[in-house]
Amino acid sequence: MRYSNKVNKIVYGGDYNPEQWPEEVWQEDMKLLKEAHIDIVTLNVFSWAAIQPSEEEYDFTKLDKIMDMVRDNGFQVCLATSTGAHPAWMAKKYPDVLRTEFSGMKRKFGGRHNSCPNSPAYRKYSVRLAEKLAERYKDYDNIVAWHISNEYGGECYCENCEKAFRIWLKKKYGTIEALNRAWNTAFWGHTFYEWDEIVLPNLLSEHFEYDRSRFQGITLDYKRFNSESLLECFRLESEAIKKITPDIPVTTNLMGFYKMLDYKMWAKYMDVVSWDNYPANEDSPAMIAMSHDLMRGIGGGKPFLLMEQTPSVANWMPYNALKRPGVMRLWSYQAAAHGADSIMFFQMRRSVGGCEKFHGAVIDHAGTNQTRVYREVQALGKELERIGAETLGAVTETKAALYFDWDNWWAIESSSGPSCELKYKDEVLNYYEALHSLNIPVDIVGPEDDLGKYSLLIAPILYMTKPGYDDKIRKFVSDGGTFVTTFFSGIVDDHDLVILGGYPGRLRDILGIWVEEEDALAPEVENRFVYNGKQYPARLLCDLSHPESSALSVLSRYEEDFYAGMPVITKNEFGKGRAYYVAARSDKAFYRDFMSDICSEAGIASVTEPQEGLEATVRFNENGRFLFLLNHSDNELEVALEKAGVDLITGGEYKRGEKVILKGKDTAIIKQKDDLE
Ligand code: GLA
Ligand code: ZN
Repeated sequence: MRYSNKVNKIVYGGDYNPEQWPEEVWQEDMKLLKEAHIDIVTLNVFSWAAIQPSEEEYDFTKLDKIMDMVRDNGFQVCLATSTGAHPAWMAKKYPDVLRTEFSGMKRKFGGRHNSCPNSPAYRKYSVRLAEKLAERYKDYDNIVAWHISNEYGGECYCENCEKAFRIWLKKKYGTIEALNRAWNTAFWGHTFYEWDEIVLPNLLSEHFEYDRSRFQGITLDYKRFNSESLLECFRLESEAIKKITPDIPVTTNLMGFYKMLDYKMWAKYMDVVSWDNYPANEDSPAMIAMSHDLMRGIGGGKPFLLMEQTPSVANWMPYNALKRPGVMRLWSYQAAAHGADSIMFFQMRRSVGGCEKFHGAVIDHAGTNQTRVYREVQALGKELERIGAETLGAVTETKAALYFDWDNWWAIESSSGPSCELKYKDEVLNYYEALHSLNIPVDIVGPEDDLGKYSLLIAPILYMTKPGYDDKIRKFVSDGGTFVTTFFSGIVDDHDLVILGGYPGRLRDILGIWVEEEDALAPEVENRFVYNGKQYPARLLCDLSHPESSALSVLSRYEEDFYAGMPVITKNEFGKGRAYYVAARSDKAFYRDFMSDICSEAGIASVTEPQEGLEATVRFNENGRFLFLLNHSDNELEVALEKAGVDLITGGEYKRGEKVILKGKDTAIIKQKDDLE
């Protein structure tokens, strides 16, 4: 499904800030952007101060001019509401818009993304602005999407938030007794008698460092509350806009694996998911791919928008290396390969001052079309025109699901023990990377997603088993599915209270084991195990478990230490399916070998024969099936096609069995022919 019926190609463009420039420059921009085959601009991202110079006054003159100019020049618009940075007068008059940080420090005016989400003044004026913008520009038929605020994020620990938190808790728990039970406040004499004794969990109260809390229950609830508070700001603006322009999709730019916001919940309120992809050059293709898949996954598998990426360089990294020639194009197609229906940049013209003056842009400080970056942008623009509407709305097809859940993320990493090195995303990436190297597409699913269409579910570190999720897994496996989970799973419920009676709690019957103890290994310490005749390391956390089920096979055992001989990998036949347990972290070679075996057993095949450096995915829609082949290496690769097809980028025709030659960093998008010519 397409996110908008106004688009007939992968839209191409991005953040454009003409308000930072004298008008003479605008015409030059229009010319250069058109020459670069750019067709969409994101406007008005940070113009609140200009539009509302005082509490009573609104002035749209400049934005009117910009809106007319881009429309007259044939550009589509992604229109932002500007509420990502509040004006200075507001901070002075209503100090409650200013955030209080984790340390307890009250902020002054400055920076951006800086408003307290529970500030009455912020909510009132942000919604009012959104409403006014919608009212004013509702008849511009080139508005493709609304872009609310910008990169929502961060946290606030102010008094407004504290009061709102108590109300949120009251609604959730009903009585203070229920809250005391859920947080196990009998520990360290924390019993609350009245709601107003509850304070926010930060450095002034429960935390000894950002990620370490003395009371996980309150920390977990605060994280949920903060995510919902920011979501409420998004929803209020969105609802105001939707009353006026119900047919224009509403989005906000997310940030991939961003820990502070439960994007799975956010996506429910977004018409189309969009996100900003800023990998470092050294990030693995798998890491970037996994972020795209997460963004597709939170939206239930629908295509998403790539709202921002840098055409060349960022400014906020410690070392801002240039994207090498061809990488911008490659990473743009990688986004499309995983479900993006837009390719957009931050930013169109490089600003003259402020911290982003060295951030990459389509138009550089030189102001010409004679730059490497401009030429690369232009060349890609031309290709996207050629591809046209073919891939729009296309979805991914796979039988492999990878579980990811924000509550689980928060709970694992707020934990005091067993290991400070235990990072949820790392273990998720280990499994993802293995599938990625095998060219097996993956859907990232959350606790509420239906598992019916999958034959494999991998849930690394399923520490928190939410009520009912064990039943979902039980049914999935009974019906014939393959389930894989790891060390430190099934430990707690959704309040982070331990599920008593032995680990892995409610997963015990499915996995057929009892985990008695967990041994955290320092980074330099390793155990070992043999799997299928090869030896692999056991690292980080080693579960010490006992087989319990008669249908259990122990596939590997520890080789060292007092627990030598205890299981590392187990497989339990359960109903028509099977459940695997991997008791420790291992290395890349293990994950790849293990996943390769698991996938063949589950009947999941590679999209195309794996090769070093090659990434392959398939998307399909009513126009056909599209095989994306991406060469992340600098060497030439050859890929033999299992079906005949035509390359949407070059127009080249291929017979079945013929080889696509991909130069270093090159991409092919093969529209497959069904008749196996
Ligand atoms: C984010 C923001 C943009 C810009 C870029 C720079 O993605 O949304 O406004 O600051 O970072 O990388
Ligand atoms: Zn606040």
